[in-house]
Amino acid sequence: MALEAARIWAERAFFCLDRQGAFRVALSGGRTPELLFRLLAEARFQRLPWDKTEVFWVDERRVPYDRPESNYRLARELLLDKVPLARGRIHPMPTGSGEPAEDAAAYEALLRKTFPGRAWPGLDLCLLGLGEDGHTASLFPGGPELAERRRWVAATRSPKGVAGRLTLTLPALWASGLRLFLACGREKSAAVRAVLGPAQPPMLPAQMAWRSEGRKVLLLDKQAAGPAGPARHKAAAGDV
Ligand code: 6PG
Repeated sequence: MALEAARIWAERAFFCLDRQGAFRVALSGGRTPELLFRLLAEARFQRLPWDKTEVFWVDERRVPYDRPESNYRLARELLLDKVPLARGRIHPMPTGSGEPAEDAAAYEALLRKTFPGRAWPGLDLCLLGLGEDGHTASLFPGGPELAERRRWVAATRSPKGVAGRLTLTLPALWASGLRLFLACGREKSAAVRAVLGPAQPPMLPAQMAWRSEGRKVLLLDKQAAGPAGPARHKAAAGDV
């Protein structure tokens, strides 16, 4: 699964480089992307256009960047410190102000500066995980931010682990050029079935993030796919 995800990342990066001379990717955290980050740091992916890549985050836990729970720290240690990517092209979510709403507004301002004049951020690739409860990014079941249709970034609360979060909102995720979902482990199989299942209220955040139009790929390992499930779900044919 991780190698397939790295191939999709590479294909998307070169496609965007050819088309617009830049590749803007937003990362999720958690355990699932670890192997992908390690793979992308390997010599075989050094030819990627790292000098034309800009890195953002889909979500972040509101902890200092040196804490093990930090999504920024995870990506920095496994990938970003190992590829030729200038610091100024790496944009972690701010977690230091006392006010979550201030941090969310600051990141939204950065995104609006990066993607001027757009209704929503034009990220080329959003890397997304899947929680056992059907959350994705830091959008949790029943959260009021699931109804957010104006802001690009929201401050949320996680029911487990680090409570304070920042996250891209659903419309910001939907606007990305490709949503790449990764899920592995038997504990995710029920959430995978719910995401791919019929749209019935109340929809889970991951299902809402998956079901909208646009390019999206869901990669699963055998355990998450379940006995009969395919390892790859893709919608919106065409280049990834
Ligand atoms: C986070 C992630 C979150 C993650 C899922 C799956 O900050 O925690 O962005 O959405 O993708 O919780 O986490 P695992 O990969 O650890 O199972």
